[in-house]
Amino acid sequence: MKRINIALDGPAAAGKSTIAKIVAAKLSMIYVDTGAMYRAITYKYLQQNKTEDFETLIAGSELALTYDEVKGQRVILDNQDVTDYLRENDVTNHVSYVASKEPVRTFAVNKQQELAAKKGIVMDGRDIGTVVLPDADLKVYMIASVEERAIRRQKDNEERGIESTVEQLRQEIADRDHYDMNREISPLKKADDAVTLDTTGKDIETVTNEILDMVSSLA
Ligand code: C5P
Repeated sequence: MKRINIALDGPAAAGKSTIAKIVAAKLSMIYVDTGAMYRAITYKYLQQNKTEDFETLIAGSELALTYDEVKGQRVILDNQDVTDYLRENDVTNHVSYVASKEPVRTFAVNKQQELAAKKGIVMDGRDIGTVVLPDADLKVYMIASVEERAIRRQKDNEERGIESTVEQLRQEIADRDHYDMNREISPLKKADDAVTLDTTGKDIETVTNEILDMVSSLA
């Protein structure tokens, strides 16, 4: 099969990263979690007492993604592995704000485009099909009901030892989607040529197979 890039966009907690990881492994492609980049910058923003000087915050940042056989993608910020902090509530609650800032987006998008230049990438995020990889070979826009997304995220959090309730997550997810869809720069939206995939009520295997079928039909 020729080398391709796959763009997977959609609202918060729609299962994008879970599916993207499996699809990438099955096709021997590399998975890139772009949300983790925005989360890493948000972690630094919080460390710097919520500085509003985003130009300086970014100018002094070195961000790299590395791949660990067992742990998967790791995010290295200024030579420190920050991956384990990225799902903390404080980061989650501020990430949409930080990700709406122009210096932050330019920095992250440039890195993402560099990573995808050689193809063979499955990339998930909010603006991958619209801005980062407008020429992606396959674009999928993954959605699911807010209720189901909150329940899935609660299970994830339980496994990670992060405290939350379904009610709180439902609100957090809805707020984050609203912010991401209404920001000025690169808002979350379906690319015109993306395929919408509603995963409500579907298990991981079903969704994975639907995407693998889409890939097969590209050939
Ligand atoms: O995918 P994840 O939930 O980790 O993304 C965290 C946040 O990062 C999103 O809510 C959004 O504000 C931002 N993001 C973005 N563009 C992307 C990926 C994530 O703005 N490509």
